[in-house]
Amino acid sequence: NKPLVYITRKIPNEIVEPFRELFEFRMWEEAEEPVPRDRLIKEMEQADALLCLLTETIDRELLESAVNLKIVANMAVGYDNIDVNTARDKGITVTNTPDVLTNTTADLTFALLMAAARKIVEGVNFIKKDKWEHWSPFLLAGSDIHHKTIGIVGMGRIGKAVAKRAKGFDMEVLYHNRSRNLEAEQELQAIYTDFDKLLERSDFIVSLVPLTNETKHMFDRTSFQKMKSRAIFINVSRGQVVDETALYHALESNEIAAAGLDVFEKEPIRADHPLLELDNVVCLPHIGSASIETRVRMLELCLENILLLFNGEEPKTPV
Ligand code: GLV
Ligand code: GLV
Repeated sequence: NKPLVYITRKIPNEIVEPFRELFEFRMWEEAEEPVPRDRLIKEMEQADALLCLLTETIDRELLESAVNLKIVANMAVGYDNIDVNTARDKGITVTNTPDVLTNTTADLTFALLMAAARKIVEGVNFIKKDKWEHWSPFLLAGSDIHHKTIGIVGMGRIGKAVAKRAKGFDMEVLYHNRSRNLEAEQELQAIYTDFDKLLERSDFIVSLVPLTNETKHMFDRTSFQKMKSRAIFINVSRGQVVDETALYHALESNEIAAAGLDVFEKEPIRADHPLLELDNVVCLPHIGSASIETRVRMLELCLENILLLFNGEEPKTPV
């Protein structure tokens, strides 16, 4: 009997095909919509492996209903959607997808930073709304990026890849992290800075911290008050590291200049979300790692991790 792998979304058959000799697959048959929770719990009565997305909450209740489950392969680098402690207690391996998405996510981070600084989306909408009457000296004049100071909060793999891009723009790179990253300091001249000083000194503040009990709402009212009035805040990690109400007020009262957001406290946001009323915010629907190449590699890495585990080997990327 082949082990049964449950995949929580419809994914392209070509990706699964090479693994069919070894595994039986069952898939939620919708590409856009997540599997309903009661259906997922039912599927867990039989599954030996689970390939899930960040739209699924893998909590104690779910893990306890999963009598045969040996591995949860999360198609994301972040794994705040998984109760890792309960999984460990039950001997269930958890894997994520680091490395394969690092450069793709750093590219998007920089795209969002540049869009917010140079009012790219405002400019596009300006033309679409037929408001372009004349060229003017300060029409849609934004902030420079080159030679400015970027403060990276969370200096992991993605943080380092963002720092590398920032060096290409002759930026000064400050960072804050739970522990020092000597590689980033030596290779990229990143300067370790305490959180408050980083907020005070940076022109661009970029959140790349994973969501944990310690990082929840770490960007709050006081944090935004410490930032420069021309500061631009970028979040590409998890929405819940930000107090969104505090961010809204900081932007609305011009306490800070702009924001670029790929993630939100509660996703998806709807078109009536207060942040969307503001011209100085660029919002994206959580697409940090969304290139076709990278999304394929993330799925393949999930399947490789499952394969290795059932071969009795160590998965490539356990959390
Ligand atoms: C996406 O947010 C991820 O964690 O990979
Ligand atoms: C997390 O894995 C990161 O690379 O920042």
